[in-house]
Amino acid sequence: MEEVFVTKGYSDGDVDTNFTTTRTLNEIADERFSRRQTMLGGLTASMTAFLGTSVLTACGDDQIPFTSEVLVNAGDDAVTTAGKQVTIAPTVANSASFTVEQFAGPPVTLSGTGATRTFFAPGVSQPTTLGFRIAANGQVDDVRITVNPAELGFAAVARNTNDVVTVPAGHNVTVLTKLGDPILAGVPAFKNDGTDTNYAGRVGDHGDALYYYGLNNAGVRDDNSSTRGLLVQNHENLNVQYLHPNGPTNLSSGVRPAGEALKEIEAHGVSIVEIQDTGNRNWVVVGNSALNRRITPNTPVVFNGPARGSDFFKTIADPTGTVGTGTINNCANGYAEWGTNLTCEENWAGYFRRDNSGTGADTANRTARELTSLRRYGVTSSRGNYNWASLAGTDPIYTRWDARAGTGSATSDYRNEPFKFGWVVEIDPFNPTTAPRKRTALGRMGHEGAWLSNLVAGRKIAVYMGDDARREYFYKFVSDAVWDPADRNRSDRLAVGDKYLDSGTLYVARFNPDGTGSWLPLVFGQVPNRPATGGEPEYVFQSQADVLVNTRLAADAVGATPMDRPEWTAVNPANGEVYLTLTNNNSSGRPVTGTDAANPRHYVEPVGTGSTSGNPNGHIIRIRETGDNPAATTFTWDIYLFGADSTDASATNVNLSGLTAENDFSSPDGLWFARPQNPSGVGRPLLWIQTDDGAFTDRTNNQMLAALPGRVGDGGTKTITNTASNGATGQQTTIVGKAATSATVRRFLTGPLECEITGVDSTPDGRTLFVGIQHPGEDGDPAAPSSNWPQSQSGTTSGRPRSGVVAVTRADGGIVGL
Ligand code: FEO
Ligand code: CA
Ligand code: CA
Repeated sequence: MEEVFVTKGYSDGDVDTNFTTTRTLNEIADERFSRRQTMLGGLTASMTAFLGTSVLTACGDDQIPFTSEVLVNAGDDAVTTAGKQVTIAPTVANSASFTVEQFAGPPVTLSGTGATRTFFAPGVSQPTTLGFRIAANGQVDDVRITVNPAELGFAAVARNTNDVVTVPAGHNVTVLTKLGDPILAGVPAFKNDGTDTNYAGRVGDHGDALYYYGLNNAGVRDDNSSTRGLLVQNHENLNVQYLHPNGPTNLSSGVRPAGEALKEIEAHGVSIVEIQDTGNRNWVVVGNSALNRRITPNTPVVFNGPARGSDFFKTIADPTGTVGTGTINNCANGYAEWGTNLTCEENWAGYFRRDNSGTGADTANRTARELTSLRRYGVTSSRGNYNWASLAGTDPIYTRWDARAGTGSATSDYRNEPFKFGWVVEIDPFNPTTAPRKRTALGRMGHEGAWLSNLVAGRKIAVYMGDDARREYFYKFVSDAVWDPADRNRSDRLAVGDKYLDSGTLYVARFNPDGTGSWLPLVFGQVPNRPATGGEPEYVFQSQADVLVNTRLAADAVGATPMDRPEWTAVNPANGEVYLTLTNNNSSGRPVTGTDAANPRHYVEPVGTGSTSGNPNGHIIRIRETGDNPAATTFTWDIYLFGADSTDASATNVNLSGLTAENDFSSPDGLWFARPQNPSGVGRPLLWIQTDDGAFTDRTNNQMLAALPGRVGDGGTKTITNTASNGATGQQTTIVGKAATSATVRRFLTGPLECEITGVDSTPDGRTLFVGIQHPGEDGDPAAPSSNWPQSQSGTTSGRPRSGVVAVTRADGGIVGL
């Protein structure tokens, strides 16, 4: 910057000029400089605390007589941490206007007018100095602010079993969307007494993964908008007992009332709801937005990718095998940077009716291959979860859940309907008229989520995916196409999805005991035909479509590592390392004789007056791709964090991450790194961990923690002794990340009774955090609800519980978590 004030020989911009002193200007400069070094070295801690959201002012360390001739004083140099809001409040004689220009450090956005300017300290990985030059009255002065890497900026929430969402002191919680909220025109207000209908026009039940898509003032996509946007949320399942006046009718036998079944079907799927900040992060639902949309199990969808048009998909409703109806049991999700949402079908298998007697037409009219496939995926219910198939023959929306093969061909019934589920489904939230696309290249499984690698121009894209069932696998898809940043802002978003998600290679992970691993390609011709386990006949793959429809069988055949229930994946925006929650396993899924380095624990865990065994508290594994390249076929890994009850667990063999009451947890599920659009996702990004637990609820309701992870390899090797309930023991060596401390993992939020915490995102600025509260009061009934949330959040202890989304903000307006 040009000097604006040099009149009498000296100004370095770092020291006030002062024309009345008898000392020389160089003497003043030396004295001031030395004083500031002391400040930086000696008062770091207190200044950091002071800077939370407070004012940097010129204050007592001034060595210079402050007279009317000192016309501008920028204030003292200081230290803060990433994400803190910093205020520059220069002293300016005669209240003159002033300008602030940044001359050092990563650029920040200054806001404010009048006497102060504020900014959020940027995310950094090491101490970084910012410099600002204040000009006023024809003079200049500088201030330097050193930013240290992020620290957790809240006090841990205590374990508790209160029927409310609890957040740290200095934070606010408001309930944003709830089951039943009307979002389409003409839908009446929700009465919450079981008589409500038209769930295709309301927010659905069991809200799960969510993502915020920014809109500008004109309602057009704006990825940087933090004041208006679309909340896209999955609706995984039902608290069915609360959907009807006195609970469901004929759930286990007889014929369901059609009106009840319709409500239940329509309460699944995905909701797209416009929300708006009415000022100071007070969010409201825009009930009449033209972008509001419900996608349900009845919404038309199309199939894309290698399995499109295959015989697997042909039914009486779709003889071409190219289209389908709806999506169900949508659990976790993914965000594609071209502006779409990847919703994932998890526990879809249980909704279908089969004749599993082994003697009926459903067996006789199917091939051995089909039967092997259906068993492998657990499509074996004789009724279906909600008995919707009891209405078969009345309307295709019910008939399709009856997947029994008749005596005719596959296009005379719905025997193939189960093959049309278990996919990653891409939705364009900005265009309500587009049909969602099922991306068959990403494989068919109990898809938990689908998170993209960090995108680099000219490099292939990876999508990391867990298959959530005991002893299932960890997958990734690698695109054939390389990333072109120009695709980020195209308006034909689903066509961009076609480019990256319809053609590529699906891999499954094998974890080696030495901390290395391999991605095994699931490619027709390379996947061996191998007898499946459990006495199944050899499954002979016939095409790539076959490999994708029967992904689990292919993964079995190549020798992937069976895991302790792979849930969400998350990618560190700063270094590309990939985290995977392994929520838990039971004693038959992970016996003491069947541990491995990547799933190393078997132990007996006290719960209440009883106990459970296996790996009931789960762990979080992470990988670093070779060469930090998402397309790599090898990686290194360690276990970032082990869930444990710090009160009960052996420190040597179970509580391997050293958890304490401030951060102990069980059954990690939701997992999300803060957005790199704000300081909480840059430098040392925040990781949010959500739980879906049944083995720790004697100590606390489900919870969300904030963490500041290190890197793969920051710990070491450990050998533990596993002990089964019968006293049998086994030794297991594993690779453990650096132990947790209060500074690196801390409980941020607890939910109401019997809920799961799932679904998390923030506005791009990080100042509003959206968190999903799923199935509060899931074990109660209409006559005696076991939670009254969300009414309880404002003190009302009556009424049926509803899943919902809360908005969490800091009272001081800062970035949540820091
Ligand atoms: Fe729907 Fe695996 O959580
Ligand atoms: Ca316990
Ligand atoms: Ca989940």
